[in-house]
Amino acid sequence: MGSSGFPKIARRGVGKIQFRRRAAPAAQRALYTRRMSFTLTTPLYYVNDRAHLGSAYTTLACDAIARYQRLKSEEVVFITGCDEHGQKIQRTAEAQGLSPQAHCDAVSEGYRQLWHQWQISNDRFVRTTDPRHRQIVQQFFKRVEANGDVVEGRQQGWYCVACEEFKDDPAEASAPHCAIHQKPLEWRDELNLFFRLSRYQQQIEALIAKPGFIAPGSRKKEVENFVAQGLRDFSISRVDLPWGIPVPGHPGHTFYVWFDALLGYLTALLDPNEEPDLGLVNARGWPAQLHVIGKDILRFHAVYWPAMLLSAGLPLPERVFGHGFLTREGQKMGKSLGNVLDPESLLEHCGRDAVRWYLLRDIPFGDDGDFQQQRFSDLVNNDLANTIGNLLNRTSSMARRWFGDAVPPGGGGVAASHPLAVAALSAGEQFTSAMDLLDFRSAAEACLHLAITTNGYLNEQAPWKLMKQEGNGQLVGSDLYAVLEATRWVAVLLAPLVPELSDRMLQQLGQTPFASGASLGGPSAWLAAQHWGGLQPGLALPEPQPVMQRLELEAPL
Ligand code: MSP
Repeated sequence: MGSSGFPKIARRGVGKIQFRRRAAPAAQRALYTRRMSFTLTTPLYYVNDRAHLGSAYTTLACDAIARYQRLKSEEVVFITGCDEHGQKIQRTAEAQGLSPQAHCDAVSEGYRQLWHQWQISNDRFVRTTDPRHRQIVQQFFKRVEANGDVVEGRQQGWYCVACEEFKDDPAEASAPHCAIHQKPLEWRDELNLFFRLSRYQQQIEALIAKPGFIAPGSRKKEVENFVAQGLRDFSISRVDLPWGIPVPGHPGHTFYVWFDALLGYLTALLDPNEEPDLGLVNARGWPAQLHVIGKDILRFHAVYWPAMLLSAGLPLPERVFGHGFLTREGQKMGKSLGNVLDPESLLEHCGRDAVRWYLLRDIPFGDDGDFQQQRFSDLVNNDLANTIGNLLNRTSSMARRWFGDAVPPGGGGVAASHPLAVAALSAGEQFTSAMDLLDFRSAAEACLHLAITTNGYLNEQAPWKLMKQEGNGQLVGSDLYAVLEATRWVAVLLAPLVPELSDRMLQQLGQTPFASGASLGGPSAWLAAQHWGGLQPGLALPEPQPVMQRLELEAPL
């Protein structure tokens, strides 16, 4: 453990982090009966608008993490949901002639359905307009107030309704436009309740200095600079905003949307049928092991949120990962530009695995990325349809033709020293350490590289030539066995990244698929499957079917 009681995170390479689970210290164990689990969150999405590719990106990445952790037999609580209060949402509803509640119900239902269509394996979907959430927020506030961290103050400044944030940085305030949204800022002058963030300067400095708390490392500097300027108290209530949770004991005040929204991570952990009680969150999976967010909301998660938790006497999240922003063909996506990529139509035209593969394999997680349609279809077709799909198809066809519709006898192909066994083992190791670092790109490359190596081996051995000469049956059998076994490894490793493709490949190989997304519990079948020789000789092979459809995208998506 680190000196301040946070779990130490082992580092692997510069700016990279690795998950290491440690038992809670005795003091913490005594305080809380914490269930060991991997709690993972996406941001809670604003319901001012439908989901866009940015929200889908975070959610897909989290889904890959959640599936990976489950396959490793971690008990996962994967949280997503909607952030439904605040001025932005109130105004959006008004503009549509709807009550805020009716508007929120409709948009959040859209999110819920979208994640269902994408087969996102979230365990919880929280809405901040849930009455249970109101109770948690009010209980939390009372703790913070009792701790002497709430003061009255006057808030003056430029406010961006789209960010729901005061732009108190002098550079931003001098230009009355939001740099992110390119929208005019609004001047505010209000008497509000403030959270005494300034009291937490030292603890926050110590927290953000911890290796791995903010990831990737490149994002840390920005937060350090912000904290180094000196933390200022921030307002946590509004007096002119009916669409918010009432502040107990302060009539006329509702909570600032960010104060309320962050607490959604706690509400989400409570069992739906239990009385909302802040005292239970530690036993239900708090603290989170990982908050995945976009880089624009890092400050809220890495500074404000930990200070709020410290004030309320709750443990801190282990890691905050700020990913980059997606552009499209080099341009920022926006309604006015008419170039927004709609996750629903993307799904309809391309399918889940194609999009997952492209986003996870092509964009280094943490960096900004550009969605390019041609590259998208090229990668999907080359990697998944040609390299991986064809490998399985042609090998299983040969095995069926020459070995009675079944996996050939293993022979030398079963040996741990077989070149493909060595390649598979090394791919497995690379995959695991990359996934532990949230380096999806290297994880995908490990799978792809194994498929390329296996294809190369098959071409070199050329069993179709060997079969023309008599007496080569055994050699061909062991070659094909090794190729099929390596292909099985590719399928196993692919499960968290492209679960449907993995499922189809494993079925073609007569195996039980892993990618259901359900918690496996007990010893992990997925880890057990990473054993060379796991493919049973003599096992019936079904008639080969294409496992990945090629993308033929003629018009822009
Ligand atoms: N409601 C807050 C989060 C509260 S969390 C307690 C919020 N919502 S949001 O809907 O505006 O944004 C959700 C996420 O989408 C953010 O992490 C944001 O960074 C991300 N993205 C928005 N546009 C994006 C891209 N173009 N590309 C990638 N992610 C982007 O902020």
